[in-house]
Parts: sequence; structure tokens; C-alpha cells
Amino acid sequence: MRILVTGGTGFIGSNTCVELMKNGHEVIIVDNLYNSKIDVLEKIENITGQMPRFYQTDILDHDGLESVFKIHSFDAVIHFAGYKAVGESVEKPLLYYRNNIAGSINLYEIMHKYQVKKLVFSSSATVYGDDFEVPFKEEYGLGTTTNPYGTTKKMNEMIISDMGYADPEISSVILRYFNPIGADETGLLGEHPNGIPNNLVPYIAQVVSGQRDYLRVWGDDYDTPDGTGVRDYIHVVDLARAHVKAIEYAAEHIGTEVINIGTGKGYSVLEVLHAYEKACGKEIPYKIMDRRPGDIAVCYADTKKAKELLGFEAEYDIDKMCQDSYRFTQNSI
Ligand code: NAD
Ligand code: UD1
Repeated sequence: MRILVTGGTGFIGSNTCVELMKNGHEVIIVDNLYNSKIDVLEKIENITGQMPRFYQTDILDHDGLESVFKIHSFDAVIHFAGYKAVGESVEKPLLYYRNNIAGSINLYEIMHKYQVKKLVFSSSATVYGDDFEVPFKEEYGLGTTTNPYGTTKKMNEMIISDMGYADPEISSVILRYFNPIGADETGLLGEHPNGIPNNLVPYIAQVVSGQRDYLRVWGDDYDTPDGTGVRDYIHVVDLARAHVKAIEYAAEHIGTEVINIGTGKGYSVLEVLHAYEKACGKEIPYKIMDRRPGDIAVCYADTKKAKELLGFEAEYDIDKMCQDSYRFTQNSI
């Protein structure tokens, strides 16, 4: 298939482009480089032997985006482009609604005009909110989101599902990611957080590389085995493989499907910390702090639907996730 990948130079997008190319798909990337660097393209070429076509285009620029559709006729779109910092979204909600909603609507309108009817969308487990029991099942539907970022994911899910009602030929797969971490095995394609990382593993990586003094563990009084928060961490390459399966599923089926992508297994903050200590061979200092507002105790996926519909199961464990994250951090210094 010839696939348009928006946000394709980003963390998950770049790893997905590699997996798509390894599976014989043609990839065309659109990204405005707001949160990624142009040298990612060379890294993709180093890994796959091929340089993907790239357009430095903002999805908010309707005409610019449409010009890419005039040049290429796409079989499908994988839509990663968006802002993702939860804290920033609370401070600047309109920025998030404009980019993640108005940008997406531009894309969907142009897809409609050019009759591109297959879509895979990056959603998040954040849409479950704290309304449901673990493991989170797709059939629970949408919970109460606690920040504008989460609400943009929920709104995109609703828009995509309404587009599916309006046009029964559309085929969309909404993937609800749990906690993607790690990097590709060569240590070239990982995550570069902007400013102070909000997420656990990028923060640990900065403690290990000496940029931060210690990890702040947000609470050890949750109802979990060691009292710290439990999450379903998934290796970014596993997540990338799930996209290949999802786009191939969309090529063969019509309708809208919502599918969790996680491992189905939860790890506590301290378990992740210890796995990272094993990977880097040194002790990582930490301090227990108060709970972070908005956090839930436990979050992990029911992975049955991904297995049944996509034949997808995550392969990599927490040790491999931390080893690959550490290799990427070492390469980036
Ligand atoms: P990322 O920031 O590394 O990648 C997003 C890419 O989109 C970046 O390269 C950025 O430059 C680009 N972009 C942003 N706005 C754009 C615009 N208006 N026009 C063109 N390009 C634009 O993030 P990621 O971690 O790779 O996440 C990819 C997607 O997955 C996002 O939609 C994110 O919300 C979603 N997601 C991520 C996580 C996570 O933990 N990383 C979890 C759940 C969902
Ligand atoms: C967070 C977002 C979620 C988003 C996801 C993207 C919040 C409340 N949730 O999820 O909306 O989709 O990132 O990946 O921001 N932790 C520490 N110290 C740290 C950082 C994290 O102890 O410095 C703990 C957290 O309390 C949590 C776990 O580590 O228990 C994972 O946190 P994080 O990586 O931020 O992910 P989520 O909170 O699951």
C-alpha cells in the first residue's frame, strides 16, 4: 500500500515507518517538525536502506496538505500528528484543540475529497479516564477525560466514528495505546521529550544521563503491591508492528474498530526503575513524593481484541524496553 503517515518523523511514527517499509509498504511522511528532527529520515534510511518521501507540512495548512494529496494517490493514512503534553494542554487548551482537532478535521476533509477511506488513528488509554475497572476493555467506551489532551483524543474518536456512520465504505482503526517506551534496536529512533519530561521512562533516562538528580516517584500509598502506580508499558517497536497489522486489517474490512494496544501486564514505578538499573548497570536515585494529581493507581489493557482481530501480541518485556531506551539515550549524548 502507499501510505501517508502524518507525524511520521516523531517517536512512534518513525518506528512505524520502519516497520511499514520492512513489510513492503510505500511511506510518505508529512510532519511540520514541531517535535521531531529532519535527521530522523536518514536514520530511517540507515535502518531500512530506503529514504521515505517527506513533506515539511503543517496539517493545519489545508492547501499545503491538499497539495500532497494532489501529488500522490494514497491507499491509506496513519495519523500520528498532534501535540501530546498533558500539562501543557491544561495551560493552553486552545492550542491543543486547534492542532489536534482542527488539524485532524483538515486531514479528514481532504481524505474525503480524494476518496481515501482507510485510516489508522493514534488514540490513548487516557480516554478510559478513571471510570472503569482494569483490565480496560474497548467495550467500556469513552470515560471522563481529565485534561484537554485526553479530550482531543476522545473527540477524534467520536469524529471518526461519525464519519464511519456517514460513509459505510470507510474503514478506520482507532488504536488506544497504553504506555509506549523504548526505542528501535539500533538505538536510533527514540523519544526526545521537550523540556522536563512528564513521563516516567524519559525522566529516568535523564537521571541516568546526569541531567536530573533523582526520580520523583509520585506516591507510594496506592493499592498496588509496592504502593507505586502500575502501568502497561509497551515497546515502541511492538506498537509499530501493531500499526502494520491495523492498516492491513483496514485494507480488508470496512467499519470502525477501537483496539487497545498494550501488553496486558502492569509494572509498578519501582519495577520499571529496577529494570532500568539492570539495563544501565547502576543504581538510580529516587525520592518518594506526594501523589501526582490526576493519576490513577492501576492501568493495563485487555488485549483480547488486538489478538483476535489483528493477530497482534506484544513480544518484548520490560527488560528489553529499558535496554533499548538506555541504548538510545547513550547514542543521543
Ligand atoms: P511525537 O511528538 O514524537 O510525534 C508527533 C509528530 O507530529 C511530531 O513529529 C510533530 O512534529 C508532528 N506534529 C505535531 N503537530 C503537527 C502538525 N500540526 N502538522 C504536522 N505535524 C505535526 O509523539 P509520539 O509519541 O510519536 O505520538 C504520536 C501520536 O500518538 C500522537 O498523536 C500522540 O498523542 C499519540 N499517543 C502517544 C502516546 C505516547 O505516550 N507517546 C500515548 C498515546 C497516544
Ligand atoms: C501519562 C498521561 C496520559 C498520556 C500518557 C502518554 C497523566 C496524568 N497521564 O500517562 O494522559 O496518555 O502519559 O504516555 O499525565 N511517574 C513517577 N515519576 C515521574 C513520572 C511518572 O513516579 O517522574 C509515575 C506516574 O505517577 C505513573 C507512572 O509513573 O504511576 C507512569 O507515568 P507516565 O509515564 O506519566 O504515564 P501515565 O501517567 O500513565
